[in-house]
Amino acid sequence: MAHYRVVLLPGDGIGPEITAVARQLLDVVAQRYGFQLDFEEQPIGGSAIDMIGDPLPEATLTACKTADAVLLAAIGSPRFDNLPREKRPETGLLKLRSGLNLFANLRPVRTVPALIDTSSLKREVIEEVDLIVVRELTGGIYFGRPKGRIEVNGDERGFNTMTYSASEVDRIARVAFEIARERNGRLCSVDKANVLDVSQLWRDRVDAMARSHDDIDVSHMYVDNAAMQLVSDPRQFDVLLTENLFGDILSDEAAVLTGSIGVLPSASLGSENPGLFEPVHGSAPDIAGQDKANPIAMVLSAAMMLRVGLKQNSAADDIERAVDTILSSGFRTNDLMSDGCIPLGCRAMGEQLLKAL
Ligand code: IPM
Ligand code: MG
Repeated sequence: MAHYRVVLLPGDGIGPEITAVARQLLDVVAQRYGFQLDFEEQPIGGSAIDMIGDPLPEATLTACKTADAVLLAAIGSPRFDNLPREKRPETGLLKLRSGLNLFANLRPVRTVPALIDTSSLKREVIEEVDLIVVRELTGGIYFGRPKGRIEVNGDERGFNTMTYSASEVDRIARVAFEIARERNGRLCSVDKANVLDVSQLWRDRVDAMARSHDDIDVSHMYVDNAAMQLVSDPRQFDVLLTENLFGDILSDEAAVLTGSIGVLPSASLGSENPGLFEPVHGSAPDIAGQDKANPIAMVLSAAMMLRVGLKQNSAADDIERAVDTILSSGFRTNDLMSDGCIPLGCRAMGEQLLKAL
């Protein structure tokens, strides 16, 4: 019997509630398809600061390194906004990504037919959108040095550095080319090469790779234009390749194409460590502990973990089908609510998902 060790990182806010739902579904499909999942929960983010005083305790990172896959819910809480940066929940997540060398963040965005009318965008614009954002995750301005705040001539200055090496661009571009090959063969690389040197290097490396990939239709777009095109004509995109900060912004924007950020999963992959699977949304501290959270992005992240991380495709298919089923039946959490639908809390959504499974 295949046997997998999965580290669960419930994190902060709504994290524990949506983790509980995902775990129940994972148990069902594991039994159905004859594999075993051994779960191990570890603290990260604000809850780890509360317990241990560190947003990424050593033991959490070690457990993740030796696991077969890592499933994270969400981190972050306004309680920690005034702490020094190394003590904030977000730092735990960034250290986990870089500690596991997870340089490729994949964020698929597909319209969910049942949710089309919950989007603030017009149906004609978002119908049949099917794209994936390939975001570089361990470089760029998130990690570049020098950075900091200094006093210059009596004025305070803050600064960060957006920096990439050619090899960092190449390894993320390679991932995007491979994904484009398995999809519709169209790759759009997003940069700001009209202004930034780091972007010109990025563009040159992508162009160099394009020369050895005749089968892929490669284009470039400036990030400001890409932000506009994404909401005015999103069907033109198949694979969107971009650097860390641009990818952070564009992937939240792309979330409105599906109806809600509450349904978007993601995978973060490297080459030597297990993958990390997590919803694109945050920890929603305003509704934490009230049984109002939408568990769908977490459940779909669990499905992505099964497919991409553990190669259990049938189990992943079943979970994704269960999500489609309950949405078509009109079951909705608050964030997805529209006329004629049935409002449910997080736990009740979980029960409907189990039934549909
Ligand atoms: C994301 C989040 C994170 C990021 C935060 C929580 C550090 O916004 O995964 O998109 O900026 O990468
Ligand atoms: Mg983000």
